[in-house]
Amino acid sequence: MRNSTRSGVGPFIVMDVMEAARRAEEAGRHVIHMEVGQPGTGAPKGATEALAKAMDQSPLGYTVSLGLPALRKRVAQLYGEWYDVDLNPGRVVITPGSSGGFLLAFTALFDSGDRVGIGAPGYPSYRQILRALGLVPVDLPTAPENRLQPVAADIQGMGLKGLMVASPANPTGTMLDHAAMGSLIEAAHGQGASFISDEIYHGLEYEAKAVTALELTDECYVINSFSKYFSMTGWRVGWMVVPEDQVRVVERIAQNMFICAPHASQVAALAAMDCEDELQANLDVYRRNRALMLDGLPKAGFTKIAPPDGAFYVYADVSDLTDDSRAFAAEILEKAGVAVTPGLDFDPQRGHTTLRFSYARSTADIQDGLERLRVFMTERKVIGEPA
Ligand SMILES: Cc1ncc(COP(=O)(O)O)c(C=O)c1O
Repeated sequence: MRNSTRSGVGPFIVMDVMEAARRAEEAGRHVIHMEVGQPGTGAPKGATEALAKAMDQSPLGYTVSLGLPALRKRVAQLYGEWYDVDLNPGRVVITPGSSGGFLLAFTALFDSGDRVGIGAPGYPSYRQILRALGLVPVDLPTAPENRLQPVAADIQGMGLKGLMVASPANPTGTMLDHAAMGSLIEAAHGQGASFISDEIYHGLEYEAKAVTALELTDECYVINSFSKYFSMTGWRVGWMVVPEDQVRVVERIAQNMFICAPHASQVAALAAMDCEDELQANLDVYRRNRALMLDGLPKAGFTKIAPPDGAFYVYADVSDLTDDSRAFAAEILEKAGVAVTPGLDFDPQRGHTTLRFSYARSTADIQDGLERLRVFMTERKVIGEPA
């Protein structure tokens, strides 16, 4: 059967790494997973308890397309708690994960052939979803001196209809402060481009609080999710905040594309928002893991890294070690038993010489993984034997 041109999207390479790791495990190897971009923990206990109760009491049928009113209200309240932003719950749209939010946002804002700027390196699915919708992703190669985030000058004269940013970002974990976010918003609006802010890693910050675009403007789409801080990846629930005059447009698309986000997940998400103690305990683990990574990776010979402000990733420039990150990742899996992600997923041009390490798993795994990497790099003669 014939396929559409726009269906020719690239694979998510990390999935291929996960498959290779799974095969190694099936063959009896013990693998440390530094490739996965998800918490090792499950949904908070309060969330599963609330769902168990709801399952006894309700058929959990469709919800209205914009989501359970109580959940929209609770999300709006979060903006008061986290950023001191007074948000009208009517602007909150509950989505099937932030991935569902991207589909809604791109469909609501852009016409076929529109150009949308995305930072490179960046989350791979932005590019692929844009392509699948007949839009044109425009990679904005970012500079190490800008901590691998786009700056206003990168988008001048690019003829963009949209600009998508992420802070903290995947794969780098770096953030945009008020000034950096503000100048990007101004530059985007200056060329008539819609500004979209992916804030999925908010809550996972280590030095300073992440800035929401809503602190600076109401003329933007903000996309967030229960997947990361709330530790609910498989539940497929997230949210979007849109300007008031965009709510009805998004609602009509959501009604037709998804009907609603999974009802059960919305019930669990609402309860998860009050499980602060458990979520902060998860964050404490990431904080410890991050410190171990920032100490252990350079000692293992991965010296070119930008300390991440948030999320649970470290992005390393390995250009002095390889020009084929996919082969290098395969070698690390084979010889060290550590799964890592080649940078090609995030940056098709320059990702041949970068790797992403995730520290979302347990501290014991991170310690073990770092030791395996050190031994591997010693054997590869990148670093010497310890004195
Ligand atoms: C930056 C970024 N945005 C969005 C997503 C997708 O998340 P969700 O589970 O909410 O669809 C991910 C997943 O890793 C991500 O890293």
